[in-house]
Amino acid sequence: MDVRQQRAPKPRPRKRVPSTPATYDSDLAQRILEAIPGGVIKVSLRGAISFANSAAVTFLGLSYDDLADLYVDDFRNKVIYENGEQCPVSEYPISKCLSTGQPQPSTTLGVQRPDGAIRWGIFTALPAHDRTGNLSGAVVTFVDITERHRAEDALRESEERYRQLVELCPDGILIHTDGTLLFVNKALAEILGAKSPDELIGTPVIDIVHPDSREIVLRRIREIETGTPATPWMELKLVRKDGSAVQIEAAARPFTLQGRNAVQVLVRDITFRKRAEHERDQLFKQVESARAHLEELSRRLVDVQEAERRRIARELHDHVGQELTALKLTLDRFGAQGASSAQAITDAQSQVNQLVNLVRQMSLDLRPIMLDDLGLLPALHWHLDRYFAMSGVRVNFKHSGVTDRRFPSEIETAAYRIVQEALTNVVRHSRAQEVIVRLWTTDKTLSVQVEDLGVGFDRDAAISAHISSGLSGMRERAALLGGRLSIESTPGSGTHLTAEFPINDHNISTDEQNSHLVG
Ligand SMILES: Nc1ncnc2c1ncn2[C@@H]1O[C@H](COP(=O)(O)OP(=O)(O)O)[C@@H](O)[C@H]1O
Ligand SMILES: [Mg+2]
Repeated sequence: MDVRQQRAPKPRPRKRVPSTPATYDSDLAQRILEAIPGGVIKVSLRGAISFANSAAVTFLGLSYDDLADLYVDDFRNKVIYENGEQCPVSEYPISKCLSTGQPQPSTTLGVQRPDGAIRWGIFTALPAHDRTGNLSGAVVTFVDITERHRAEDALRESEERYRQLVELCPDGILIHTDGTLLFVNKALAEILGAKSPDELIGTPVIDIVHPDSREIVLRRIREIETGTPATPWMELKLVRKDGSAVQIEAAARPFTLQGRNAVQVLVRDITFRKRAEHERDQLFKQVESARAHLEELSRRLVDVQEAERRRIARELHDHVGQELTALKLTLDRFGAQGASSAQAITDAQSQVNQLVNLVRQMSLDLRPIMLDDLGLLPALHWHLDRYFAMSGVRVNFKHSGVTDRRFPSEIETAAYRIVQEALTNVVRHSRAQEVIVRLWTTDKTLSVQVEDLGVGFDRDAAISAHISSGLSGMRERAALLGGRLSIESTPGSGTHLTAEFPINDHNISTDEQNSHLVG
């Protein structure tokens, strides 16, 4: 059955009164109703709308004429609760007022206008009585809160966005008021090693600051309190739950929270960045020192080359030159005395012999030919014999596993030069009468050792003094081939110098032990 067919014809709602001076109470009442910002609608006992003020007309988006034809029931499916659900007609404050005859408390409801837009209002309904005191209808009043509702929605949305942002933010975020932690996000709890933000909320902010950084943090808090708008990023240390320090970078910004001064702080864990920076610095230093070392090496190489050339030039001048001059004088004499001078020929022959010897010695000094042709062991034998002959220092040479063995030529050269230099040092500095030279191999290494029982020296002082290139040259030769040089020396009790080289040759065959005493 159609509800409308049951409806009796009803009077049209009264139109807005023109703005003339109020002469009667009823006029005044009506003008007040028109002037107030709230909506007022009167309905009859049957729910027919009999009056609406202009605020109500505007709120509903209908004209006076439209409203005149409507009943409360016509708003079916057009009213919603705050949670968006439909509000049944029987639950409208006006319906409840009509059915109970009682005033209805304020209820927030949304009403859909003909254009589809929802307007929100706080509705109250009061019963109306006729002169005899019988219920004659009800009056619904309401205030339009659409704008406030919209603002609240917007606020709620923005709060939700903020909450998500803060929760998802990989950086730590905290809010403190009066020095107490009011809010901490998950990331900060993690940075501080706490199980959850709840563990931290309510604690004094200074408690999470490492003692090293407390002074600067307190100063920053004071600055913010005295009106510095925002502080730039600063690096400081916080203290984790387990007491360890964590390097962070923080930026703080003051704001008002529920009428109180609050500070929001963004905290970024920079442990990894600091570590990377440190490693980069270290690497840079290493590269720098390697470069300086290389420069020093090449400078020294030039020095060594020059010294070697000077030595060869002097030898040539002093020995070869002198012998050649003597030979020239002999030949001159031979020419002046005529065809037969047996003595002059004998002299010349011996001078040529000496020259040949000299040149051979010089060439052997520069690089013993047997080092290339026969290997390390024969070259060392030859050198040790010569060393004893020239210096008078007895050499006890012990070797193992090296007979008939060849090693990479650069290792043989390095080992030979190191022994050569060590022996020169013995004769120059140690005052020892005897020296022990050892040469041996293992599966993976070739080692040489020169031991004297001489005066010894302060190794560290000698190396750091950088006075000569002998010891450092030996060290570099070993290092260049992946080996190492160790020097043990105590003033008064002699010197042990050992060089060890890695060799890749694994098929070591011989296992002979040899000892050879020179002198
Ligand atoms: N076997 C040694 N016995 C005593 N002192 C030594 C010995 N080897 C080296 N030294 C000391 O170490 C210093 C540095 O040696 P080195 O670098 O070879 O330079 P140089 O031999 O040109 O002085 C020597 O001046 C000497 O004081
Ligand atoms: Mg030396």
